[in-house]
Amino acid sequence: MRVLFLGDIVGRSGREAVCKNLSQIKQDHKINFTVANCDNVSAGFGINRSAYDELVNAGVDVLTGGDHIWDQREINSFINDAKKLLRPHNFPKSCPGVGARIFVDSQERKILVIHLLGQVFIKYQVNCPFACAEEILSNNALLKDVDVIIVDFHAEATSEKMAMAKFLDGKVSLVIGTHTHIPTNDAHILTGQTAYQTDAGMCGDYDSVIGMDKNIPLQMFLHKRKFDKFQVAQGQATICGAVVELNKFGLATQIYPLKIGGILGQDFKKNN
Ligand SMILES: [Fe+2]
Ligand SMILES: [Fe+2]
Repeated sequence: MRVLFLGDIVGRSGREAVCKNLSQIKQDHKINFTVANCDNVSAGFGINRSAYDELVNAGVDVLTGGDHIWDQREINSFINDAKKLLRPHNFPKSCPGVGARIFVDSQERKILVIHLLGQVFIKYQVNCPFACAEEILSNNALLKDVDVIIVDFHAEATSEKMAMAKFLDGKVSLVIGTHTHIPTNDAHILTGQTAYQTDAGMCGDYDSVIGMDKNIPLQMFLHKRKFDKFQVAQGQATICGAVVELNKFGLATQIYPLKIGGILGQDFKKNN
């Protein structure tokens, strides 16, 4: 089977690009199951109900969040009903929502999606993502309990993401990083046949600073103070992600990155 994973969808430009193109991408790449990160989908910060509905209606099977999951106030009122939305599992148990869930696809395959938040350079003091992963997997083994296991590790440090991949190698189908918005050039299959990419990149406008209007962060770097609120860049988005092919054991036989449209797009042509 083939899994599509899309990196952080940022603002309206990212959301519209995904909604407009997802069904064609699924058809072109023979995708059976789609996971997308939505940490910045509503005005750059978190997700609201209407964006959730829009992406689910467009064909995303599971949405994962991240450090911005609580930014939209209405998240608290709908996350428990939004069965296709995961928040990082390693927040305290008192938080609403869940961070790992088994989904069943049209072929009756059981697909466990696990969403974890890193601890390095992340503002929240979350529980250890390694211990949390181990605990979930102790009750959900590949082949025995579930057919596929996908891990979205939302983290800043490349080292932490790579360490997680080595920790889970052979026990899960895919470990993929999100949060930095920059796709890494390292999609590969680990020795234990787990597919891996340090960061999937973003679905957003790359004529920006990680998805935000470039002038505001630039002023911050130059003058060490914030002049205005961050605004999402509204130019044409590049859809960034990865396609993973899995065998009947739920292990990876192929992974390749996707970059479609916008500045980073494989089909992008310079005008001058
Ligand atoms: Fe994030
Ligand atoms: Fe993000």
